[in-house]
Amino acid sequence: MKLRSIEMVLPAADQAADFLINVWGAKLAAQQNNTHYIRGSGTFPYLVALEEGDSKYVRSVTFVCDKQELIALKARVEASGFPARPEVSNDLGGGEGIIVELPEGELLRFLADTTEVDTLDDEDLPVKLTHVVFNATDAERTADIVEQVLNFRVSDRTKGMVFVRCNDSHHSTAFARAGFSSLNHIAFEMQDTDAVMRGVGRLRDHDRTPAWGPGRHGPGDNVFAYYIAPFGAVVEFSTAVEKVPEDYKVGAPEDWTWPENRIDQWGISDKDFAGLKVAEQTFSFRRTWQPEPLN
Ligand SMILES: [Fe+2]
Repeated sequence: MKLRSIEMVLPAADQAADFLINVWGAKLAAQQNNTHYIRGSGTFPYLVALEEGDSKYVRSVTFVCDKQELIALKARVEASGFPARPEVSNDLGGGEGIIVELPEGELLRFLADTTEVDTLDDEDLPVKLTHVVFNATDAERTADIVEQVLNFRVSDRTKGMVFVRCNDSHHSTAFARAGFSSLNHIAFEMQDTDAVMRGVGRLRDHDRTPAWGPGRHGPGDNVFAYYIAPFGAVVEFSTAVEKVPEDYKVGAPEDWTWPENRIDQWGISDKDFAGLKVAEQTFSFRRTWQPEPLN
């Protein structure tokens, strides 16, 4: 199971695409069906779909898997009773599978038989998405659900978040103990720490400073730099997230504490708590389809 992409709807999608391409450093894969598809250097046909619409919302977050995984997933989703329907993707890369709405509204899509593309040789492009994080009213309940229904695994718990993996990457998603549900942020995996830092420089060329970072996280050990994109969402340059074994010992909040005045391993950055909190409420999920039997 791999995290592949996020599909967003928003006004002025062309301006959001312009930011991701000409400032952030990603690449236009295609423009079709009122949608800009933005890719990185890796084999996924796109990482972010930006569809023109009247209001801002997330249509889905897409994971790709093989047919066997999809069959097992379908059975568990059906047994859960959560709203779901079969899905034939019209996005780049095609594929078939299901989309399910979790109890706090998160819309997760699982596709098999998707196509991939040739890699691009450009060390400044993001490679892929490394995680998409959600705000949750009840992060523990949501994490329990994704373990039971989606077969994801909790990697670590902190005071603020529950980190969840769907393969050997420490986390592909996380649920923030926010008290409300929405999109928290989208993290792009850069080739290495230098590529993150060159990204920070590129943003600086456009008079943009990080909302948090650069720094190195505790859980996952990844390097980060967060920005508030002009289209409202929080986006992150990240790299070097930890790979974990199947029997990784789940950390508890008391295992992940910081010395006073520190919120990352390096201790070199400030965090715009107020700005991030507003940005993290810009996009929530909206289900625009009716549930249907999965078989
Ligand atoms: Fe992150």
